[in-house]
Amino acid sequence: MDTWIVTGGTRGLGRAIADFLIGSGDAVAFCARTPGEVARVEQELQARGPALGMAGSIADPAFVRGFVEQARTLGGLRGLILNAAVLPNPPLSPVVSLSADEVRRVLDINLLGALHLLQAAHPYLIRHDNPRVAAITSDAAWAGYAGWAAYGLTKAALELLVLTYGAEQADVPAVAIDPGDMDTAMHREALPEDDSNLRDPRAIAPAIAALLRRTSGVAGRWVFDGTDVSREVK
Ligand SMILES: NC(=O)c1ccc[n+]([C@@H]2O[C@H](COP(=O)([O-])OP(=O)(O)OC[C@H]3O[C@@H](n4cnc5c(N)ncnc54)[C@H](OP(=O)(O)O)[C@@H]3O)[C@@H](O)[C@H]2O)c1
Repeated sequence: MDTWIVTGGTRGLGRAIADFLIGSGDAVAFCARTPGEVARVEQELQARGPALGMAGSIADPAFVRGFVEQARTLGGLRGLILNAAVLPNPPLSPVVSLSADEVRRVLDINLLGALHLLQAAHPYLIRHDNPRVAAITSDAAWAGYAGWAAYGLTKAALELLVLTYGAEQADVPAVAIDPGDMDTAMHREALPEDDSNLRDPRAIAPAIAALLRRTSGVAGRWVFDGTDVSREVK
């Protein structure tokens, strides 16, 4: 049985990935900031398999170190799924009126949170014979969509961080996965009026798990195309 760390496991895509991994026989350690939600989801997951939840922010390096130490108690750490992220407030804003403080706050979570996790988990990942690191990214990392600079730049930097880590660690394949638009709290916060056919994150989680469990050809940038992940060449 492998242990996976999933950040942001209480709702949306993180919850769907945690559910799928538990349901397919692995152990999951997850975190999120809201204690009541962490306790509720921990109880639900523990009814189905080995699970551990911790409440705190990935922007806090001391919390992250403690979380990774707890995660290890579930068993050998196979993977790190860097899923937790936030939008700026307001979610969309033109570059000319961006708040530098808000950009820093979002970078602290979406980028530096991932760095803290990578650094805390690395010594344990390299003890596993088949470790994986995955970052959940977005097409906003590449497209320069109007209004999306503060969020998009954190995802562009996250991709560079994780793919560079993978280039440095030949034994730890690292991926960036763009899940596409999903019916989640984050999407509703950004685009409350959007009534397009958004995907259920539970339809995406199995493809992400299957990619991470492949035995070869894992590293790189991937996009969910509606049925599976396909490699994206930029
Ligand atoms: N939704 C989309 O259409 C879409 C599209 C492309 C990419 N993505 C990416 O997909 C991933 C999942 O998004 P989602 O839509 O599922 O988001 P979501 O519904 O807002 O869920 C985010 C999760 O992360 C947790 N979280 C947020 N900040 C945190 C922090 N500082 N420390 C620890 N946990 C934190 C949240 O719980 P708390 O609030 O309690 O902390 C929650 O569990 C994100 O990386 C997002 O950027 C989403």
